[in-house]
Amino acid sequence: MHLYRSALLRFADDGTALYEEDGLLATAPDDRGVQRVHAAGAWRALAPLYFSQASQPVTHWPGRIIAPGFVDMHVHYPQLDVIGSPAEGLLPWLENYTFPHESRFADAGYAAGVAGFFLDELQRNGVTTALTFATSHPGSVDALMAQAHARRLRLIAGKVLQDRHSPDGVRDATEQSLIDTEALIQRWHGKGRLGYAITPRFAPTSTPQQLSGAGALAARYPDVWVQSHVAENQQEICWARELFPGTRSYLDVYARVGLLRERAVYAHCIHFDDEDRAAMRESGAVAAVCPTSNLFLGSGQFDFAGADRMGFGYGLASDVGGGTSFSPFHTMLAAYYVGREGQTKTGLSLAPQRLWWLHTAGAARALGLDGVVGNLEPGCEADFVVLNPAATPLLARRTAGAAHLDELLFAMIVLGDDRLIERTVIA
Ligand code: GUN
Ligand code: ZN
Repeated sequence: MHLYRSALLRFADDGTALYEEDGLLATAPDDRGVQRVHAAGAWRALAPLYFSQASQPVTHWPGRIIAPGFVDMHVHYPQLDVIGSPAEGLLPWLENYTFPHESRFADAGYAAGVAGFFLDELQRNGVTTALTFATSHPGSVDALMAQAHARRLRLIAGKVLQDRHSPDGVRDATEQSLIDTEALIQRWHGKGRLGYAITPRFAPTSTPQQLSGAGALAARYPDVWVQSHVAENQQEICWARELFPGTRSYLDVYARVGLLRERAVYAHCIHFDDEDRAAMRESGAVAAVCPTSNLFLGSGQFDFAGADRMGFGYGLASDVGGGTSFSPFHTMLAAYYVGREGQTKTGLSLAPQRLWWLHTAGAARALGLDGVVGNLEPGCEADFVVLNPAATPLLARRTAGAAHLDELLFAMIVLGDDRLIERTVIA
């Protein structure tokens, strides 16, 4: 049993933030040795239960806030060194920077070096669960999974499928790519806290045969995740329509091969109509919203109001290296900016509790990991961050002056970065 005393942030089922200024978090190991939340709440109410029999040592963090570890719903671990590569848009960015860089992951030693840096960077930024692309090289998955397993992280990843319209060095072979995917599922899915995601890069770089094969695997392994990109950029959409004539929309390409289902996570989902939104809702597929990437690549922006009106699930993501930061604070702030804009198009103001939820418990729910990660309710795996709201002079000044919880959360979203994350604790 571990007992922690500090301020404590967690979420109710409806997404409302629950905050204790003087809180207690108790964790205990399950039969696999994973620390789980035993109790969370007000120190005054809970402490007597833990001190009635024997005195327990307590880790006391005065002036700090314990909060759920962040969940990044879409990131590319091999694109660490692609961050900040300017291009006119998505397709030239892929061709000129991303594909040449990803070809280096044929070298397992290179992949292992990047994987270690990537996991350190997640942890420094308080991200305790990520759904990440690897590259088309099966060894790039092994390199990441082996290190994530050693760190006991809850991480989901997959080998990219891309058997056409891709240069030598990243293009894979249809049949072998599906054999490799199945072998990786068997090697890694459910090992410790790891999960596997079937990962067609996006429809334009897969043949119809590869997409159908991916759909068949998705049916055979229903608890494995699916991840891809859709409706990010106008040029990309035109290209997808040319390549798949006779489909109703770009999203429909995935639907027809069985890739639209629960645990399917589509990055971007910007240029959707209501039929697409309804298809997302009815299938249980969800969107990974990537505001810094969409700003950087000039793709357009996710329609939060449209998603809420039609009722499909979504959460926040960095999309590094199209995205510009690993920091969940930067992603939440970008989501606030682009959701809010209301003078030239309809928008809505995303409240700070909502933004934070979309990057923790809400993102976990979208991934099908409700009650597992992203929150600190009893039974959750105890992945958490310790925030120092006085990490910089301005943060200290602004958070000290916060009159209520929304002000405190907003101050951290607007002013926060990796300095706010004093430590990251993995269950
Ligand atoms: N579409 C296909 N591949 C990619 C990628 O690597 N990043 C982004 N943002 N979009 C994509
Ligand atoms: Zn992406």
